[in-house]
Amino acid sequence: MIVEPKVREFICTTAHPTGCYENVKRQIAYVKDKGTIEGPKRVLVIGASTGYGLASRITAAFACQASTIGVMFEKPSNGKRTATPGWYNTVAFEKEAEKNGLYAKSINGDAFSLEVKEKVIEMIKEDLGQVDMVIYSLAAPRRTTADGTVWASSLKTTGEAFTEKSLDLRNNTIVTKTVEPAKDGELEGTIKVMGGEDWMDWMDTLHGAGVLSENAVTVAYSYIGPKLTYPIYYDGTIGQAKRHLTKTAEKINEKYSDIKAYISVNKALVTQASAAIPIVPLYFAILYKVMKVQGTHEGCIEQISRLFHEKLFVEKPVTDEQGRIRMDDWELSDEVQDKVMECWKNVTTENVAELSDIDGYWQDFYQMFGFHLDGVDYAKDVDLEVAIPSLE
Ligand code: NAI
Repeated sequence: MIVEPKVREFICTTAHPTGCYENVKRQIAYVKDKGTIEGPKRVLVIGASTGYGLASRITAAFACQASTIGVMFEKPSNGKRTATPGWYNTVAFEKEAEKNGLYAKSINGDAFSLEVKEKVIEMIKEDLGQVDMVIYSLAAPRRTTADGTVWASSLKTTGEAFTEKSLDLRNNTIVTKTVEPAKDGELEGTIKVMGGEDWMDWMDTLHGAGVLSENAVTVAYSYIGPKLTYPIYYDGTIGQAKRHLTKTAEKINEKYSDIKAYISVNKALVTQASAAIPIVPLYFAILYKVMKVQGTHEGCIEQISRLFHEKLFVEKPVTDEQGRIRMDDWELSDEVQDKVMECWKNVTTENVAELSDIDGYWQDFYQMFGFHLDGVDYAKDVDLEVAIPSLE
C-alpha cells in the first residue's frame, strides 16, 4: 500500500513504516558518531517507542552497548490502517539492534498494570538477571489503577482561566486561546496519570523481585519551561503532576539506599504528547527558530545523548541545587528566552513564518510519523503489517 499523511490538527492518523525506519536509523547514526559511554549494560525503558523514551533506548543500546527491554503501548496495523509510529520505530530498533549484536526485546501493553510489570520481571529474570537502569518516559492520557478506576490527565490551569496567543495548527494562523481552570477531580486525575505514583510502583515491584542491580539508576523526565507558559504548564495541572514526579525521585532515594533516582528536566520538543498542549506549539516554533539561529537547537536524540555523555554517566552527575538534571539549560538561558519573548510579543499571522520556525515545527511533526524524510521513496508500496521481531 502507498501511505500518505492524514493530519487532523495535532495528530496524524497514519504512519510510514520505511520513514519510521529511516528516522530510527538516523538517531542510531547520531549516537554512534558521538562515541561510546561507560554506562549501564542492562536497561529497562518504560515508554520506549517514541520521543524521549525511544531516544533513551537508542542511546543506551548504541552508546553503552546495553541490552534493552522496552515497554510501550502501540497499535499494530490491521491490514487497512497503518500501525502507530511507535510500532514501526520498535520494528526498526529491534532489527538494527540485532544487526549490531545487541539484545532487544519489547513488551506492548499497559505499563500502569501489574500484569505488564510482572511480565517485565519475568523477562529480566530469564534473559538478563537484573537491570542497571530504569528509564521512565511515559506520556499517557489515561491510567487505570488496580481498583479499576480510570483516571484522565488534563491540560488545564489550577487558578484562573489563561488567555494567550496560540498557533492554529489547521491553518498556521495566530489566534487567541483560552485554557480553562481544572474542574473537580481533573487535577487529581492528572497527578494520578502523569505524577510519580506509577514510577514508585515500578521501583517497588522491581526492587521487591530482586531484579535491580546494586546501585541501579532510574531517571524520569520532566519539563518546566518559561514563565510565559507557567499558567498552562508549570503551574497548571501537568506541572503539579511533574512536581509529584520530582517528589517521587526524593522518595525513591530516601527509601532505597541502593537505587539512585533522578529527574531530568528536558527541552521542549515536538512529540505526540506535546503537540496536544494548547499555546505551547507557538512557543516551540519560536524557540526552534531562536535556537537554530544560535546553533543550540537539539532534538530528542541530541538531548538524551548529551544527558548520558555530559550529565549522568560522568564522575559526579551534574544537577541543580534541587538535585535535578537540567537538560533545559540551553532552552532557559537568558540569551534564548529574551529573544523568544521579543518574538512572542510581535508575532502575528502575517509574520509568523518569519519570526518562528513554523516549517521546522511541521517538519518534526511529519517526521515523527515517518513522513517528509529525504531518501524515502513515498511512491513505493509498503508492507503495513511488519512485525516487531520479539513479539512474533
Ligand atoms: P511520547 O508521546 O513521544 O512517548 C510516550 C511513550 O509512552 C510512548 O513510547 C508510548 O508508547 C508510551 N506509553 C503511553 N501510554 C502507555 C501505557 N499505558 N503503557 C505503556 N506505554 C505507554 O512522549 P514524550 O514527549 O517523549 O514524553 C515522554 C516523557 O518526557 C513525558 O514524561 C514528558 O512529560 C516528558 N517530557 C517531554 C517534553 C516534550 O517537550 N516533549 C519535554 C520534557 C519532558
